[in-house]
Amino acid sequence: MNTVRFLLGQELIELESVSPTLTVLTYLREEKKKIGTKEGCAEGDCGACTVVIAEVVDDCLHYRAVNACIVFLATLDGKQLLTVEDIKTTRNELHPVQQSMVDSHASQCGFCTPGFVMSGFAEYQNRLHKLDDLPESQSDEAVTTQLTQVFAGNLCRCTGYGPIIEAGKTWLIQAEQTTPQEITEAEATIIARLKAIHPQTSKTLTQAGQTYIQPDSIFALTEALAAAPGATLLAGGTDIGLWVTKQHKALDTVIYLGCIAALKRIEVRGGLLEIGAAVTYSEALPVLIQHFPTLEEYLYRHRSTQIRNAGTLVGNIANGSPIGDMPPVLIALNAQITLTSQRGQRPLALEDYFIAYGKQDRQPGEFIESVHIPLNPPGSFGVYKISKRFEQDISSVSAAFYVELDDQRRVQTARLCFGGMAATPKRAALCEQALLNQPWNEATVQAAAALLGQDFMPLSDFRASREYRLTVAMNLLKKFFIQQQNPRQATQISYTGGLIHA
Ligand SMILES: Cc1cc2nc3c(=O)[nH]c(=O)nc-3n(C[C@H](O)[C@H](O)[C@H](O)COP(=O)(O)OP(=O)(O)OC[C@H]3O[C@@H](n4cnc5c(N)ncnc54)[C@H](O)[C@@H]3O)c2cc1C
Ligand code: FES
Ligand code: FES
Repeated sequence: MNTVRFLLGQELIELESVSPTLTVLTYLREEKKKIGTKEGCAEGDCGACTVVIAEVVDDCLHYRAVNACIVFLATLDGKQLLTVEDIKTTRNELHPVQQSMVDSHASQCGFCTPGFVMSGFAEYQNRLHKLDDLPESQSDEAVTTQLTQVFAGNLCRCTGYGPIIEAGKTWLIQAEQTTPQEITEAEATIIARLKAIHPQTSKTLTQAGQTYIQPDSIFALTEALAAAPGATLLAGGTDIGLWVTKQHKALDTVIYLGCIAALKRIEVRGGLLEIGAAVTYSEALPVLIQHFPTLEEYLYRHRSTQIRNAGTLVGNIANGSPIGDMPPVLIALNAQITLTSQRGQRPLALEDYFIAYGKQDRQPGEFIESVHIPLNPPGSFGVYKISKRFEQDISSVSAAFYVELDDQRRVQTARLCFGGMAATPKRAALCEQALLNQPWNEATVQAAAALLGQDFMPLSDFRASREYRLTVAMNLLKKFFIQQQNPRQATQISYTGGLIHA
């Protein structure tokens, strides 16, 4: 049926016509007059607009905090949308997250407060059901670190974060000390209602010359794309949302990938980790960290919880950005992608996907179906992100290094890939060449690092100058060498300012 249906709190909403680019925030504030959800930046940065989407996963409700300003309404099909107006308890009391904010005096002007509350609410609810894979908190520092991650996408300009974190400690401990909860009666009702409206078939909706297509299978997607090769493929919308809110682009035809179960796959097959095009960062993160523990900090620095809950790994590849965080990592790990169309599947080494600035090897009618990462590489692997802020910031330079040595400690394989150094994510060909078959020592690394100036001619822009980028790139390679040689040497600073080892 060509109707988008979702629950707004307890209310069933049915839309037979919807603009594919109507954001949840505009709908809430302008059409439903629910103004508890605020608009600050309209680009996913400040978190004032944070709302929660509840979905049925394994017969349980799973809660995701997202930025309403860049999520499109049509993508809510089959889900429940919760705003700050919806979360009071069944006894009409404040939710424990709200109550903790009151008790800790964690709100001054109040503009950011609904956003903080909703970020906390999603975390609290998932913890009640023990759905989150975050480690159990122990020390005060560990709790602070977890809350910093929960709130990395929420900005407060007047209260200060101290009271908000204090409030967080109260509700986090409260949620953790609660014995894992059975599904409540109220949740069981929502689950039943969501199952009844779950999107089961492909649908197409139009409004004022714009078309929204929601295929339910890869076959339906290839057909839709063959019929409309110029259509915009929409995954998490964390790039596309900004085309609408900041560049005011009118997108005529949008094809949403999020309802295709086959694109939600995370699988280990034949020594490869396969991640589908509709898998979000939050879904991929635990599996990536399990197989590549080195990636942990890098992945958590990648945006905020809200952005990781919506954005996909494949979207980060597909957008072709020279400063996307994942392509250097995946290229260093020798990943492949699968491009699919009505003509069939086409495997491609990820590094060959990036042809030039704004130009990728994607034929009309093709989409990226998945990315495949070789598991258990025998060599050493390191990743680095240099940005002005620790979280939620675009890289000035990112680097991923993979080096394999032989029995004589000579370099057998070197895959050194950088972001922010060229018009595309790019390997350092001359630098790699200078390492090959050489002893892995300081002199070799110094000589190879000096060649980065020939490998790259980076731009100067507001993030970093050309000279800064080159110097940092050289230093990152030296840091990687030091970390491999002497893992006990402190080479990093932790969240709380202490020195830590590699
Ligand atoms: C506040 C904020 C912070 C951010 N921080 C970072 C950061 O730290 N590091 C970083 O790298 N990025 C960052 N981003 C950018 C963005 O989150 C990523 O690029 C994200 O991975 C894009 O994925 P998506 O699913 O949201 O893509 P979408 O916005 O849905 O799509 C992005 C592009 O890819 C195309 N596309 C999507 N899927 C496919 C497919 N399967 N096949 C072919 N084409 C496809 C779309 O048509 C579009 O051109 C940030 C964005 C915001 C708003
Ligand atoms: S309004 Fe700032 S993140 Fe949405
Ligand atoms: S209380 Fe004013 S911005 Fe946070």
